[in-house]
Amino acid sequence: MSIEIPAGLEELLIRFTVDVLRNQPRDVLDFALRYFERLNQNRGEDSPSAASRPGTKVNLSQETHCTEGKAEEDVELFAPATSTFTRRVSVSAETYNPYNEEEEHRECRIIHSKTDKQRQCLQEACRDILLFKNLDTKQMSEVLDAMFERRVQEDEHIIDQDDNGDNFYVIERGTFSIYMKVDGEERLRGTYKNHGSFGELALMYNTPRAATIIATSVGALWCLDRVTFRRIIVRNNAKKRKLYEAFIKSVPLLESLKSGERMKVVDVLCCQLYSDGERIIAQGDSADCFYIVESGQVRITVNKNGAETEIAVYSRGQYFGELALITNMPRAAFVYAVGNVQCLVMDVDAFERLLGPCKDIMKRNIANYKKQLAKLFESDTDIACLPPNT
Ligand code: CMP
Ligand code: CMP
Repeated sequence: MSIEIPAGLEELLIRFTVDVLRNQPRDVLDFALRYFERLNQNRGEDSPSAASRPGTKVNLSQETHCTEGKAEEDVELFAPATSTFTRRVSVSAETYNPYNEEEEHRECRIIHSKTDKQRQCLQEACRDILLFKNLDTKQMSEVLDAMFERRVQEDEHIIDQDDNGDNFYVIERGTFSIYMKVDGEERLRGTYKNHGSFGELALMYNTPRAATIIATSVGALWCLDRVTFRRIIVRNNAKKRKLYEAFIKSVPLLESLKSGERMKVVDVLCCQLYSDGERIIAQGDSADCFYIVESGQVRITVNKNGAETEIAVYSRGQYFGELALITNMPRAAFVYAVGNVQCLVMDVDAFERLLGPCKDIMKRNIANYKKQLAKLFESDTDIACLPPNT
């Protein structure tokens, strides 16, 4: 059964429930009184997006549970975070030391119950989300438990630039436009079509939303609340930074990046393993990822007139898969694992956002591909797998 409810109500109640579950107050009514009083005091101007957003349909059978309570003596009331309901006043209340294991044990686990079909859809939608790829089984299952479904209408603002971050979103279905303000003017920066995710930046870095995301069709999203996202994904990123910091610093392509920019690159990378002979990229496929070899080797081959010819072997620190992302053309070559290979993989959004400063180096390298192929095939014209203007 579904019912029309006022904009903002669902998020307000979810946030309140999360905070009750985290704090486990002895007197829930007293907690609620103080919570809403504090919320009212902290309320800045109402978010324009909330005012303009149409009502949202929710599944009334959705339940929230908490499986691990917080000790009584730790009960504290922090400024409630309600983003689309009202502007967050301070995000510092949620800052924590990512290595604080004790805090991890005390933290509350959120569970939104789901039907088998919903869980299946959710798992399918999350299968290719790079941010989730480094999670262990327990962490992944906590993330899946905490996610809840949100139906969206055409023209609905899911995120407004400069708002505070409430949720991370994984697309189940539907199309969405990304807008960013440039010199005060909203410019279309890209689209999502039936898969992908967005809304991670404000949660990762405690910054205002970097873009506006508007649904351009009816659709459905899976949402992960800020608290769970920070507890699992941000903590995991802190571990990743420790693990990959030295390696990323040694990658020649990334030398021109500042240290903070390199750390952001680490945050979005995920590690993928390939076994001997496994195909990593197929020539002619459409592209959505960029790769850096972390260990082992990869073999690049090109299919010309029905025969595959080896053109290069790359090892630790070298990158591939940039060409199709830069030229918006299909993959220009095959890439295979030689022995066991470990690659760090970045999706196209992150590639666009973070590797802008390295594009000149990549473009210079692309010019070499043409020479390389021309030499190999003893022809300086008609290298069909490369764009004509490289
Ligand atoms: P966040 O800043 O939390 O909210 C807006 C989201 O838009 C952002 O996270 C990203 O997930 C997404 N996004 C897509 N393209 C871009 C881009 N070019 N720059 C910044 N954010 C982007
Ligand atoms: P992309 O076309 O996205 O996928 C195949 C990758 O192989 C390509 O990006 C390059 O990164 C890499 N490659 C290496 N040498 C060549 C070459 N001579 N021609 C085309 N691609 C090459």
